[in-house]
Amino acid sequence: MAHASAPQSAPPQWRGLRSGPLRGRLQAPGDKSVSHRALLLGALAEGVTTITGLLEGEDVLRTAGAMRALGAGVERLGQGHWRILGRGGLSEPADVIDCGNSGTGARLILGAAAGFDLTATFTGDISLRGRPMGRVLKPLALMGASWIGRAGDRLPLSLRGGKLMGLDYAPPEPSAQVKSAILLAGLQARGETCVTETTPTRDHTERMLRSFGAEVEVAETLRGRAVRLRGGQPLRGQPIEVPGDPSSAAFPLVAALITPGSQVVVENVLLNPLRTGLFETLKNMGADLVVDNVREVGGEAVGDVTARYGDLQGVEVPADRAASMIDEYPILAVAAACARGRTVMRGLGELRVKESDRLGLMARGLADCGVEVEEGAEELTVTGGNRGRSPRGGAGVLTHGDHRIAMGFLVLGLTAEEPILVDQPDMIATSFPTFGELMRGLGADLGPI
Ligand code: S3P
Repeated sequence: MAHASAPQSAPPQWRGLRSGPLRGRLQAPGDKSVSHRALLLGALAEGVTTITGLLEGEDVLRTAGAMRALGAGVERLGQGHWRILGRGGLSEPADVIDCGNSGTGARLILGAAAGFDLTATFTGDISLRGRPMGRVLKPLALMGASWIGRAGDRLPLSLRGGKLMGLDYAPPEPSAQVKSAILLAGLQARGETCVTETTPTRDHTERMLRSFGAEVEVAETLRGRAVRLRGGQPLRGQPIEVPGDPSSAAFPLVAALITPGSQVVVENVLLNPLRTGLFETLKNMGADLVVDNVREVGGEAVGDVTARYGDLQGVEVPADRAASMIDEYPILAVAAACARGRTVMRGLGELRVKESDRLGLMARGLADCGVEVEEGAEELTVTGGNRGRSPRGGAGVLTHGDHRIAMGFLVLGLTAEEPILVDQPDMIATSFPTFGELMRGLGADLGPI
């Protein structure tokens, strides 16, 4: 008997369509960087850590699973509300630890695990398996950890930890992930560990270590910002309130800036100055962006950010601002495509080794949408049309599974003349699982085809 072949289902795609004014208020989802660290420090500490506002995106859920596998008690009490029972250290996992798509999860967990007498094998999805881990493995090896991998410094690899010595290290790349991995390892090492950064990067690890009771010294030196801690300091479980993520808030805010007639408020946005480079840049472009109701949440400044549609002007974004907005270049490039004149973004080498080659993918996607763009090795120049002449759009954009590329082009679709399609929309859930629902609540016409 002949069998009918199973119907070939098309791979899922989302489309962003030209939309009317966006209006409304929403709460920024929990900050991804702070969420990973809350789980990690909770597991390393002794006693109970309760977390509220945890981002329940795929990346963070992977880290929660990893902490459980490494011996911590991890319990979900309700939406964003978690309890971690730390045992003052990590123990050998029974199985491979899969960090999914998350570079932050993988690199910070490698650092934390390196401090203990254990062997652990790490892997990730196809994107993460292609990303360089040498940047953390090299300093961890200098401290005394060892590792073996099948594909150079890429995952999957097995790490052997324990008996570390403190290290004085200046990472060649500006990376909070590298700094944090070394500091977490240093916590278990003999003697002192110092990481010196020529360009300061997000300092959530330093801040949170202090709130868990560790002494962490930060000093400006001739070589740069030096972060120093003594090994052997115990951490004590803490209540942690996770502020809203400025890197996620950026998508509805830029959507409002470029969609005629819009006004959107995003509440509870983390305003740590090492994270707000995008807001500064948008203001330089003439954006109507107002921050109010500034207050403190979990030792960090947060506020409500209002964005109103208006004219944007191209600007030059200096290379030394890159670290404070490293995840925001895809959405900045979208804003630039809707601004008058040229926007030049420099110092973008690190974008080539994110969840995708973000520099290459943004250049290609924008060009496919009819935007004039020039791609340099570490530079992107986008020339926007005049107001009233939105980008053409009308392209199917390949995201290579990168959540921020997908969200960026869906936002561009809200103002482009023709719809924009993106593939692999499921990956948006790694950092912003409620993106579609919240954007539709503002009046955006985006979602599955
Ligand atoms: C992060 C640091 C950044 C950023 C990532 C989150 C962190 O990476 O791109 O999304 O939480 O430390 P690098 O430190 O590699 O630049």
